[in-house]
Amino acid sequence: MIRVDEFTPGIEPDLREVFHSAIHHGCIRDYTAEQTAAWAPEHYDREWWTLLLRRLRPFVARDGGKIVGYGDLQEDGYIDHFYIHGEHQGKGVGNVLMGRILGAGAARERLYSHVSRTARPFFESHGFSVVKCQDVQVRGVWMQNYLMERRNKAG
Ligand SMILES: CC(C)(COP(=O)(O)OP(=O)(O)OC[C@H]1O[C@@H](n2cnc3c(N)ncnc32)[C@H](O)[C@@H]1OP(=O)(O)O)[C@@H](O)C(=O)NCCC(=O)NCCS
Repeated sequence: MIRVDEFTPGIEPDLREVFHSAIHHGCIRDYTAEQTAAWAPEHYDREWWTLLLRRLRPFVARDGGKIVGYGDLQEDGYIDHFYIHGEHQGKGVGNVLMGRILGAGAARERLYSHVSRTARPFFESHGFSVVKCQDVQVRGVWMQNYLMERRNKAG
């Protein structure tokens, strides 16, 4: 069964594993090897990553205790990270995690994110629409993503 918990310090290396695997397994059809390598490099700065995740404080999805995904929601409605482990994609984890984020953000007028080509249909199925397509530079490599937003009726 998939469970979603709040972030707890100490799990940052597990989240990095999810991040790396999500991109290298999930996005290879939509991005080149050069782009995925720049997005999720093999080597990373552990201290920087730990501080980033402690700032984002994402929700964490577990399946039978194993961390299989994570996604955050910031005060202004921004979703910075949303990643499901490559071996656990397509099994409903994303739906459960997004449900939790949408619940947490229900009172907000607008939720928004910079979404990969890979995740665009998933975000669309959760009520987000494309505001614009944009070219962004990640560690010196250009790639395309979408600014997507979801307007909540309550807002
Ligand atoms: C995109 C992603 C977040 C979806 O999570 P997931 O756990 O694999 O998705 P689920 O199994 O919960 O599927 C949810 C629904 O979205 C659909 N879906 C998921 N990924 C899809 C894709 N790439 N293309 C089309 N539909 C997709 C599923 O068919 C499913 O539809 P249903 O609810 O009607 O059955 C995940 O695959 C991922 O992390 N991908 C790679 C990294 C990435 O791009 N992250 C987002 C950065 S912005």
